[in-house]
Formats: sequence, structure tokens, C-alpha cells
Amino acid sequence: MAKRGKWKSTLGFVLAAAGSAVGLGNIWRFPYVTGKNGGAVFLFFYILSVLFLGLVVMYAELSLGRATQKNPVGAFEKIKPSSPWKAVGFLGIFTGVGILSYYSVIAGWTLYYFYISSLGKFSGNLTQAQIDEIFSAFVSNPFLTISLLLVFIFLTSFIVSKGVSSGIERWTGILMPLLFLILLILSIYSLTLPGASEGLKFYLKPDFSKVNLKMILSAVGQAFFSLSLGMGAMITYGSYLSREDNLFSSGIEVVAFDTLVAFLAGIIIFPTVFTYGLSPQAGVPLVFKTLPFTFSRLPLGRLFGPLFFFLLAIAALTSTISLVEVATSYLVDERRIPRPRAAFLVGAVAFLLGIPSALSTSPGLFSRFAFGKSFLDLMDYLWANLSLPLGALLLSIFVGYVWGAEKAAVEIRFRKDRKFPGEDLWIYDIKYFVPLVLAVILLFAAFGSS
Ligand code: PFF
Repeated sequence: MAKRGKWKSTLGFVLAAAGSAVGLGNIWRFPYVTGKNGGAVFLFFYILSVLFLGLVVMYAELSLGRATQKNPVGAFEKIKPSSPWKAVGFLGIFTGVGILSYYSVIAGWTLYYFYISSLGKFSGNLTQAQIDEIFSAFVSNPFLTISLLLVFIFLTSFIVSKGVSSGIERWTGILMPLLFLILLILSIYSLTLPGASEGLKFYLKPDFSKVNLKMILSAVGQAFFSLSLGMGAMITYGSYLSREDNLFSSGIEVVAFDTLVAFLAGIIIFPTVFTYGLSPQAGVPLVFKTLPFTFSRLPLGRLFGPLFFFLLAIAALTSTISLVEVATSYLVDERRIPRPRAAFLVGAVAFLLGIPSALSTSPGLFSRFAFGKSFLDLMDYLWANLSLPLGALLLSIFVGYVWGAEKAAVEIRFRKDRKFPGEDLWIYDIKYFVPLVLAVILLFAAFGSS
């Protein structure tokens, strides 16, 4: 059997896992769903979801991956041979390809915004009408959106075809901290804007009368999406970990960094939204219609704009790499397909499935596909809000009862003879809290009216 890849160091793993977690989910999706769901109250449930569902499921996935040293399908199979449980692994693979398809469309947008901001299109105090015009002219050009989708997926498949550690570890180490630095600078600038206090009020002062189940489901979905959970990405990345790596502290670091980046994105976006009279409800285009205001007014914006979109594209790339890697590792491990061919095959399927999403912003069939939503919106809802929580629910039952939470806990420990901090709570959480909360939320989402 061919030797499986391994991370060169624990730091390499943390960077790669953080690279998977930090991406468009933090900077594009988090502000848009927060804005749509009432701001602070959403943030409140988001943070609860990260702490009590996300972090817990993160350890479940990483420990399952490291213990079995397998791709998601192989991991379930190894622990419970010839059982239907491997279907959960397959669900993860489909979800990964589903997310990849529309995620890469948005990633393509960042490439375009990198290009036009380098040309100086955002200089000179642009008005809202001008910013809207730039956006609409671009997204309603199917040739452009589809070509950029293709470029992005090709790039991802190319890197994955070269293998885990050489492809992934090298990039993230330098570029992620740089992205973080730029976000810090932009946050400070945003806090000086005249609409800052109104923006912060929307973002940080919860109005609990707005609580509803759909909002809670979105918060849970966003937490899983942002942390790359519920589809086996962290099982796969955990499988490249070795025994000496400290799984416990790596998990916390990844979750903390990811949450901080999303939080900062909100600090940047909402003051800007309220300063220029935009709507926090703008949905998918929110970031693309907001940040150009910043770059056209910020001192040195001419420089920061292209740099920001470049780094965002890289952050998206380290996430799409993990999305392709899940299906690829299955095809390589279980189907004996050579890695390069597997990586491009996965990319090709995602590209075809992504075309209707790339057409969603042009007038036509896909712009109002079903239930009053565009194809892209529908995909986003289906995979992120339903499929990831469902995957996480099944995974928690598997780890809690079939594999056994106690066994999983030993895998998380750094020293086998000593419990990790919060071990008892973790066991309780993965066995009872996670499955119960997710089952209730999903049942209501499926049968409830709101
Ligand atoms: N976590 C990524 C982001 O926030 O952009 C998106 C993602 C990557 C979701 C990998 C799921 C996944 F398995």
C-alpha cells in the first residue's frame, strides 16, 4: 500500500486545519448570515454553537481521523466493519463536493475583485450607485463568472494532486498571519467611522425578542461551516496526524483563531454598512458591496484593497483544498485511483455542479430557481444549514455510542494516563447534548413552519 501523507509538524497541522477553517465562511458568509438574522442575537447563538457544538464535534472528528488513519468512509468502516455507518462518510463526500461547487463561484468573485482593485477601480470616494454598478456588471456576465469558477477549481485540484503536506502546509504559514494583520488594520479603521456606534449596536447588542428557530439553525449551520465540520474534512486532516501531535491544544487553537477572524469581519463590515446607509440584509453580495467603500476611502486603500482580496482568495483556496481533499482521500485510499486523477475528477464534478450557481446572478432560470431563492442560495442553505448539522448529528451518535465516547476521549488525551481538561464534560456533550440539540433543530427545520 502506498504510504499515506503526514504533516511535517503539529504546527503544520494547525496551520492546515486553520487554513481549512478560515475562508469565505468567515469573511463572506458570516457577515451576510449575521446581517440577515438580526445581528447580535445571531452572534450570541453562533458563539454558543461554536463552544458547545463546534469544539466538541471538532475533537470527535480529529480523534476519529487520527485513531483510524483513514478517510471518512474508511474511518467508519474500520471501527464498525460492513455496517451502514459508512454512509455517513459518503454523505460527507457529497456535501464536500456540493459546498465546493458554489463556494468556488464566490472564490472566483474574489479573484475578480483582486484584479479590479489592482487596476485602481476602487479609488476616489465611490458612491453606492457606482459600487453596485461594478458588482452587477460583473456578476451578470456568465462568461466571467464561469471562467473564474473554472480557474479556481483547477488551481485547487492542481494543488491537491501534489499531495497533502507539500501542497498545503507551505502556503498557510505565511499568508494566514498576514490576512489577520490586514483584518486588524481594517477593523481599527472601521471603528473610526461615523456609523461605528450604530454598527456595533446592531452587531453586539442582542435583541432577544428576535429569537426564532430558523435563526438558531442558521447559527449552528454557520458554526459547522466555518469550522469545516460535519462532512469529514477534520476526520481527513486528523488522519494525517501522528501519535505525538497534541490534538487537544491544536483543536482549541483552530477554533479560537477561526472565531476571532469571523468576529473581526463583523467589526469591519457593520460599521461600514451603517455609515453608508446600506442594508445589513443584503445577503450574498454584502461583503462585495461594503468593502469597496472602505478601500475607496481608507488612506492607502489603493494598496490594501488588492492585498486584501489576494489574501481572501488564498484563504478560500486553503479551504477549497480541504473540500477537494475529502473526496480525493477516499478515491485514493479505497478505490486505488492515482491522486492526480482523483483530484481532477472531483474538481470536474464540482465545476459542472457549480455552473448553475455561477449563472444564479444573471437573469434567468437559476436566479429564481425554487422557493424564491436562487440556485446558489438554495445550495448554500441545503449543504450548510441542513447537510452539515445532519452529518454532525450522525457523527456524534457514532462516536458517542458505536465507537464509544470514552475510547474517543483517550485518543484526545495528550498523556494516555491523564484526562484532558474538560474530558467528562466532553463525553457528556458528545453523547447527549450534541445529538439531542441537533436532532431537535433538524426536526423543526424539516417539519416546522417558521
Ligand atoms: N470552513 C470553510 C470556511 O469557513 O470558509 C469552508 C469549509 C471548508 C466548509 C471545508 C466545510 C469544509 F469541510
